[in-house]
Amino acid sequence: MDKFVVRGGNPLLGTIKVSGAKNSALPCMAAAILTEDEVILENIPQVRDIETERKLLTSMGAEVELGYGRAQHRTHIKCAVLSDPVAKYEIVKTMRASSLVLGPLIARTGMARVAMPGGCAIGGRPIDLHIKGLEAMGATITQEHGYLEARATRLKAARILFDKITVTGTEDLLMAATLAEGESIFENCAREPEVTDLAALLNAMGAKIEGAGTSTIRVQGVSKLHGARHRINPDRIEAGTFLIAGAITGGDLNVDSCEPQHLGALIHKLEQCGVRIDVGKDHIRVRSGGELKAADISTEEYPGFPTDMQAQFMALATQAEGTSIVTENIFENRFMHVQELARMGANITINGRTATVRGKTPLQSAAVMCSDLRASASLVLAALVADGETILDRVYHLDRGYEHFEEKLRGVGAQIRRMGDVFGKK
Ligand code: EPZ
Repeated sequence: MDKFVVRGGNPLLGTIKVSGAKNSALPCMAAAILTEDEVILENIPQVRDIETERKLLTSMGAEVELGYGRAQHRTHIKCAVLSDPVAKYEIVKTMRASSLVLGPLIARTGMARVAMPGGCAIGGRPIDLHIKGLEAMGATITQEHGYLEARATRLKAARILFDKITVTGTEDLLMAATLAEGESIFENCAREPEVTDLAALLNAMGAKIEGAGTSTIRVQGVSKLHGARHRINPDRIEAGTFLIAGAITGGDLNVDSCEPQHLGALIHKLEQCGVRIDVGKDHIRVRSGGELKAADISTEEYPGFPTDMQAQFMALATQAEGTSIVTENIFENRFMHVQELARMGANITINGRTATVRGKTPLQSAAVMCSDLRASASLVLAALVADGETILDRVYHLDRGYEHFEEKLRGVGAQIRRMGDVFGKK
């Protein structure tokens, strides 16, 4: 298993480019199931989860050509025939977002067999709201041997009030409703930019969706969708991770090819910490002399402070003067990075869903273990300011959602390199 070796101490200087959003690309690739025509997606990030999605779609009979290295990272997907509408456990267990094919498969083929995702490092993460919504649209869903078996002649429109705001739940039902009979109305929807991005693709495919990005979405079902070309949004979480990298290292970084308006909550918090932020049309300049002030965060659904930035912000809080209170409201087990940061000398206490971070504490290099995607990013950020050389194990977690992470950071002065497992693989 690959490791990262990071020597701390360098301020990050220069321009770093943001890739396309993993959490937009995944639902947009699943949306191709809804038509037999070709869907072309640009700006697809070169990350492991996209490779998993490709495997998932091709295992069902789709043709998928990932266009890495070509202009615009253009990816071609054609689901002319879905010979085997099954999302197999071997794939689903490696990526929960595989369950996003449930709604599109039922809507397009009238049937689906999808492995239940099982537990996850950051929380239970059930998909009961996906199932409840699809049943309200007329699907019959049974559970057999760890698989959801779903059937429907043609989905019927429904009025659904989500018990809880769910991003992929909103996306799954949105896709299903595009081919349902009648007009669906969804309330208490997720307002994340990834939902809006998906709706833009679906409308380009001939769907009739209004209100994406708000908590009420209307979908007038149509009998057929057609092919389309769509450019995926920039990754706001990757951009946010780079903003914190610039701030924590006392650097001067231009985070390029991002969408600043998607980062309002984070920018607001960084300014509270005394970080200088200059916002451009598609870039953000972050400057800090390294003098950081403590600030509290509480994770919320968009446009609140994103849970996917909580771990990275906690790394920053270890370098801020004073006490920062970090409250995680979305997932019940998203403090896996705390013990690893403590191994580096951080002073953090946990009480239920709240972590109290006392700073500024000088960090020391240590061997640390990555546990999930964003926790891994937090450990790299901490290592960038730690005294000495930190070894991060299991960086495959990071490769799931960050494209060429170490190369990009090295490009702005970080001392970071990847080490293949010399003992495991030659
Ligand atoms: C999406 O996950 C993202 N993943 C996550 O990013 C992100 O952390 C999360 O939204 C919240 O912003 C993708 O888009 C692929 P939810 P999702 O359904 O949709 C509960 C990353 O790091 N819930 O909005 O799975 C759930 O347990 C990943 O890139 C139910 O109870 O999250 C959680 O507590 C990690 N029943 C809350 O709702 C359901 O049916 C929000 O989860 C669905 C969700």
